[in-house]
Amino acid sequence: MGESVHTVTTLPAERRPGCPFDPPAELIEARQHGAISRYTHPGGKPGWMITGYDLVRSVLADPRFSSRKDLLNVVDFEIPPAPPGEFLLMDDPDHSRYRKPLVGKFTVRRMRLLTERIEQITSDCLDAMESSGPTADLVAAFAKPIPTIIICELLGVPYEDRDSFQEQIDKFMNGETSDEDLLAAYTATQDYLEKLVAAKRANPTDDVLSELTDSDLTDEELKGISLILLAAGFDTTANMLSLGTFALLQNPDQLAALRADPTLIDQAVEELLRYLSVAKSFMRTALVDVELGGQTIEAGTTVVLSYNTANRDPERYTDPHTLDIHRKQGGHLAFGHGVHLCLGQQLARVEMRIALAALIERFPTLRLAVPAEEVALRPETADIYGVKSLPVTWDVDGED
Ligand code: HEM
Repeated sequence: MGESVHTVTTLPAERRPGCPFDPPAELIEARQHGAISRYTHPGGKPGWMITGYDLVRSVLADPRFSSRKDLLNVVDFEIPPAPPGEFLLMDDPDHSRYRKPLVGKFTVRRMRLLTERIEQITSDCLDAMESSGPTADLVAAFAKPIPTIIICELLGVPYEDRDSFQEQIDKFMNGETSDEDLLAAYTATQDYLEKLVAAKRANPTDDVLSELTDSDLTDEELKGISLILLAAGFDTTANMLSLGTFALLQNPDQLAALRADPTLIDQAVEELLRYLSVAKSFMRTALVDVELGGQTIEAGTTVVLSYNTANRDPERYTDPHTLDIHRKQGGHLAFGHGVHLCLGQQLARVEMRIALAALIERFPTLRLAVPAEEVALRPETADIYGVKSLPVTWDVDGED
């Protein structure tokens, strides 16, 4: 028998009014009661919610917990295994078979080589924003196009296909699409990727997908890998760019400190990653009975790892709910930890450092164009948190 334990009942669909950057109050409260709470999955199955930093990190490093999609025990019906190539939801040896050929393509060194291209794309976006200003939706003008163009170039998605492509991916990430539309968007993306893989096999170009055709991976597997890279590759970074800008605008002392000392950008990006944790939570299923934080997690039970609450754990971070770009305590879990540690973390870092630094340099008077309460936020049902749009404005030289 475990010790007495707090229970998290239903989670709200929205965040607390006025606190768009904080995890739901229920989760912050749960952490105050302990690192682990009982929890009922929305599908009705009993499980656990882990909100403490140390415990989340230990589960992520523990091979007794699985990432497999078909083992998720959250609904009353059986969940099929992840399609070939979608290795985020697989365990070893399948997981590493897919991940291994990709690792060398996302190293710090390879990503640094992309610096010039990211600077160019950022500068083009800022030029376009400036010439159509002095107002803009920062999501459409800046936060979405930069990571989208980069991931499409890496994968070799032709320019003319990008708008429709982004629209489909958006539908399965925004948390508001009906089941029917979700299926349609998924099928359309699958069909598109099938054609893309065939095109790369026939005519390899200078991109990651073409390079991967020179391996023992099947077309079906390449399609799955591409889908994971695309879905993980731009929505996360786009939301970090827009929500990150919103957070800086709402913390003018931090923004001023960054403007005064642009060398703080690397630290500022790490702190925004910790503070915002847009990839809020992931699940793992116990393969055997596991003792965790004084409780027994029975084999076959699915636990939710609340990355955003872990990154606000007061036992790990001083003043965890304060955005402090001078913070020295690193080790955040915004990119996860262990074998599924984010493959694109170096790319995301380079993109955020370049894009955020260029934005604040180009627009010294950047500010919200609407009251902060009117900024439309994604619902909690979205896998990745963020803003739907971010209306901003700035002073134009020569105007009052
Ligand atoms: C995995 C977050 C950007 C590709 C993950 C995980 C997290 C994460 C938390 C671990 C999931 C788990 O524990 O099960 C983020 C954030 C990003 C970002 C916050 C942006 C700020 C990117 C980019 C790419 C990418 C730019 C691609 C180019 C992946 C892939 C995985 C992954 C392929 C699966 C790794 C595996 O299962 O071995 N990401 N990510 N991510 N991410 Fe990212």
